Amino acid sequence: MHLPVLLEESLEYLKVEPGKTYLDATAGGGGHLSVIAKGAGESSTVIGLDRDVHVIDQLKIRQGLGDLSSNIRLFHSNFSDIKGVLEENGIGTISGGILADLGVSSMQIDNAERGFSFQQDGPLDMRMDTTSSLSAHTIVNEFSEKEIADIIFNYGEDRHARAIAKAILRNRPIDSTAQLASIVTKSLGRFQGKNSKYNKNPATRTFQAIRMAVNEELLSLEKFLEEATSCLEPGARLVVITFHSLEDRMVKQFFRTKSLQCICPPRHPVCTCNTRRALQILTKKPIVASSQEIDFNSRARSAKLRAAEKLDDSNQLDHP
Ligand SMILES: C[S@@+](CC[C@H](N)C(=O)[O-])C[C@H]1O[C@@H](n2cnc3c(N)ncnc32)[C@H](O)[C@@H]1O
Repeated sequence: MHLPVLLEESLEYLKVEPGKTYLDATAGGGGHLSVIAKGAGESSTVIGLDRDVHVIDQLKIRQGLGDLSSNIRLFHSNFSDIKGVLEENGIGTISGGILADLGVSSMQIDNAERGFSFQQDGPLDMRMDTTSSLSAHTIVNEFSEKEIADIIFNYGEDRHARAIAKAILRNRPIDSTAQLASIVTKSLGRFQGKNSKYNKNPATRTFQAIRMAVNEELLSLEKFLEEATSCLEPGARLVVITFHSLEDRMVKQFFRTKSLQCICPPRHPVCTCNTRRALQILTKKPIVASSQEIDFNSRARSAKLRAAEKLDDSNQLDHP
């Protein structure tokens, strides 16, 4: 069971209304998707994507049982290929909005066989798309010490990345999530004093980093933001929910750049870039969960929602 985060806020910023086309790029447990489909009604087209084929299979079963609206079209795909999916299936552009609720679902984390969790023992896998070839096992057992340290430092933002990578190399082969978690925890033993930054389990950052590398999460997000923006019709909205600072920074920066009229260097005497504003930012600051939602769903604690609306040519300002 996956509890959708910031559900009301997502619907409000997507401005769900009948007759329009909506796309949920991260269908997961169908929480947001089913409510969007209900709000948009039978006259709308609602599309659900997920890169995890098991997620799409489950949603199709639920649809067959009548638990999920029949006007939802489901596709197994990375959201970085959103344009291709729409083109191949003759759907065209999105008139209502696109939602992405990033990361993994509770169903994926709770299934030990998928290898996402350090709290349950399972194989070192962490692939969202089980048809792809790179798994956590390959990274942990075959990558160099420097490559592993870079992954943990860049994606986990753990300043003890080198010590962890050294310990991983010393203990190879490593086959299970419990084994990896224990190696990471032991390697950090001497850094876990009273003033330690490790208020969560010390393996959290390493697991997050390896998962991000296995699934090339930032690369997918970067491509998605660009493609999703180009698929929106003027007035349609893009809503993104992130769970850590690297993703949030990327979304914030992307929205900012796309909302600018001119991207010439500051000292440029005249504008030569001819940039067109593609987006109007709707959330100056990210929307976060209420304390009631966090009490009910601890996963909502780190969620940040940002939204923007696609602009048309009449929204362009004069170039400076
Ligand atoms: C947090 S869950 C979404 C939960 C969903 N909003 C709900 O309410 O049930 C994230 C989902 O996004 C999927 N996902 C993550 N990255 C993706 C990508 N690049 N392309 C498509 N799906 C992705 C995961 O497989 C997972 O099922």
